Order: sequence, then C-alpha cells, then structure tokens
Amino acid sequence: MENKLKLIATQGEIREAVAKVASAIQRDFKGKTPVIIGVLKGSFVFMADLARALDMPLEVDFIRVSSYGMNDSSRKGARITKDIEIDIKGRHVLVVEDISDRGVTVEKVLDHLNGKNPAVLKLCALLMRDGCEAASKVDYFGKTIGKGFVVGYGLDYKERFRNLPALYVMKDGE
Ligand code: PRP
Repeated sequence: MENKLKLIATQGEIREAVAKVASAIQRDFKGKTPVIIGVLKGSFVFMADLARALDMPLEVDFIRVSSYGMNDSSRKGARITKDIEIDIKGRHVLVVEDISDRGVTVEKVLDHLNGKNPAVLKLCALLMRDGCEAASKVDYFGKTIGKGFVVGYGLDYKERFRNLPALYVMKDGE
C-alpha cells in the first residue's frame, strides 16, 4: 500500500507552511487570547503543531464534522457530530482545518459557530484545493494543492495513514 503513495510535501515543507500561517495569525490576533478550534479528525496533527508555533495565550477546543454525499454533488453536506465546549460569545476565534476541499465543511462550521456570536471568526487551512468553492472564506492557508487524494499529517484513507509525518497523494486513487 505505502508504495502507492507519492510525496507532495516533506516534513520540512510542512514546517515552513505552518510557520508562515502562524506568523500571520500571530500578527492579526496580537493582544487577544483566541480560542482555536480544530475540526476533527483530520486537523489533529496540524492543530498540535500550529498551537505550539503560536507564541501567545490561547485556548483550545474541537468540533467534529462528518461529511456525506462525497460522490453526489447534489446531496453533498456536512453534519456536526460533536460541538465545542468553550463559550465563544464575544471571543476571537480561529477555526483550524487540515484541508478545505469542496468547502462544504468550512461553510457548515462557520455558519454554526457564527450562531454563537464570536467577536471575530477566522479560518485557517493547511491545504486548500485549487478551485475550492469556499476559498474566499479561508483567511489563512499553508499550501494549495491540485488533484489527488491526500493522506498523511492527520489525513486518512479509510482511517489509515493519519500518522505519516509528511503529505502524500494516493496513486491510482487507492
Ligand atoms: C475531510 C477533511 C476536512 C474535510 C474537507 O474530513 O479533514 O475536514 O474533509 O472537505 P470539504 O472541504 O469537501 O468539506 P472528513 O470528512 O474526511 O473527516 P475526517 O477529518 O474525520 O477524516
């Protein structure tokens, strides 16, 4: 299986992308104590690195979103299966996504969290797919990517490969 993976970003390249995103966030959230909210499960590795790259006081929470209708664009959607626990009313909030692909998850999460009346709600994604429909809603991103199913650094194929330290695309779709 591993020989069907093609490297698209090394650990060093990922580190640089995380540092770039972190420095923009640190500049924009200066003087605040943001709540950073990871979108489970894929963001868990990026969250851990991003949180440690941010040299500022912050709080951490998680939301879990599961998407459906992957192969049928007319039914595509996302459902929140675990909500955040911190009260974000009046807070500076940053949503942390591993990849913004079709943009369905981003739209769902931002709608949901906006309903809780944060003072500021921004979103960062390590990866953004070329042509992502929600691109205008992604305030910070590390790297754009073309076609291909991405795994590693938190991203899975059938729950495998999340622990790979670099990013790969799967050859032959599998
Ligand atoms: C993946 C990924 C993003 C989402 C992006 O999550 O981690 O959260 O899809 O896709 P979209 O932009 O098309 O909505 P997935 O639903 O596979 O769950 P997981 O994070 O638990 O792996």
